[in-house]
Amino acid sequence: MERTLVLVKPDGVQRGLVGEIIGRLERRGLKLIALKMMQITRELAGRHYAEHQGKAFYDGLLAFITSGPVIAMIWEGREAVTVVRSAMGSTDPLKAAPGTIRGDLALDLGMNLIHGSDSPARAETEISLFFSGPELHQYNRTADRWIRE
Ligand code: RTP
Ligand code: MG
Repeated sequence: MERTLVLVKPDGVQRGLVGEIIGRLERRGLKLIALKMMQITRELAGRHYAEHQGKAFYDGLLAFITSGPVIAMIWEGREAVTVVRSAMGSTDPLKAAPGTIRGDLALDLGMNLIHGSDSPARAETEISLFFSGPELHQYNRTADRWIRE
């Protein structure tokens, strides 16, 4: 089953939106298989956002993502990467559709509340950056037979 890394960014923790964001992904039917609160180090931030190195917003992005605790999670489900990206909405909250997390809850390109992996390959890389094997939980959910035929 496909997996994706999700972060509730420091602004989401500070604004008390952790429950709201987790609740939306839970209600969608995705399955939570790992979760922890952590402060991202400069080194981890650099590896996580390596693709943006050299861009004008890179230093600000790293300063922001390391500025306070985040909630790191792994969510699982069919097409989990795409499902989470569509639930997040566009990177710039001003362009994000109503009904999305960013479109309903955020206003600023930097403080856009949530990260979700942008491809299955990136998801696997990001999952191994943030989590070790024993932190991932395998379990059966009885609700699954009412979520997926
Ligand atoms: P994320 O990686 O954080 O989930 O966000 P994303 O895929 O929607 O956007 P991405 O292109 O990966 O950019 C990472 C974060 O950098 C900030 N950003 N600023 N000033 C700019 O043009 C600009 N572009 C991107 C955003 O905070 C974005 O979430
Ligand atoms: Mg991205």
